[in-house]
Amino acid sequence: MSATDTVKVLQDALEVFRPHTKGPVRRGFDKPRWEMSNLHTIILTGLKSVYEKALTVPEEKHRAFVGYCLQWVGYIINHHWIEENLYFTHFPESFTQTQTIFSEHQTFHAKIEEMKTYLTNCLPIGTKWGLRDTVEESASRTQKEPVAFDGARLKAIIDTFIVPLTTHLQAEITYLDPENIKASGMTEKQLEEMDKAVMAHIRSLGPHPLLMYTVYHLPKDVEFPPAPKFVKRILVPWIFHWKGSQWWQFCPKRFE
Ligand SMILES: [Fe+2]
Repeated sequence: MSATDTVKVLQDALEVFRPHTKGPVRRGFDKPRWEMSNLHTIILTGLKSVYEKALTVPEEKHRAFVGYCLQWVGYIINHHWIEENLYFTHFPESFTQTQTIFSEHQTFHAKIEEMKTYLTNCLPIGTKWGLRDTVEESASRTQKEPVAFDGARLKAIIDTFIVPLTTHLQAEITYLDPENIKASGMTEKQLEEMDKAVMAHIRSLGPHPLLMYTVYHLPKDVEFPPAPKFVKRILVPWIFHWKGSQWWQFCPKRFE
């Protein structure tokens, strides 16, 4: 996969999600496809941002940029953890795509681990990264000192998983067609219970960095996440921003 192709694959997938992200907050059976389209938009917008900036970040900002890239890694790892432990586990057995989704995760999971290992090797041991992780000594880290960041190496790793990743993210949106969920026999009550379980987990993580990453990687004309405008338009850019601002400097220009 060449660099031009990877950007095109990312852009094409983003356009598939776009019609499902616009408009008002969806409820009931319409909600899963709406929220998943927004979450997948965040994931691919974040990855595109990483990919497009990787070769041009000045050396003195490499450490901050690696931290920003690791926010993407933390975000997608958390997204799949939620899906596998709190989200699709609430769907009835008759929703036959659950195992397909989990198998699709395995088609690129090892590559994301490779990206995580490469990036954490670029940071000193003890550095905080992602949602709540710390760079530790490990078997995959042969040296104590960080290695120099190489944007071309990072892009080459992304090139290896861009197709299975975007294929999966687009397929999942079709599985979550409201009619497909209804046909599985899932009830509105089960949907509500699933929502509660996910929200309890998200609240336990706090606004940093999950909410920040979410708001900064969506177009400003969408209603996701369904938090008060005061939080998204005031607290995020003017108050919460300053914790982790070394990472957020690399976000796409959402407020232009
Ligand atoms: Fe997903």
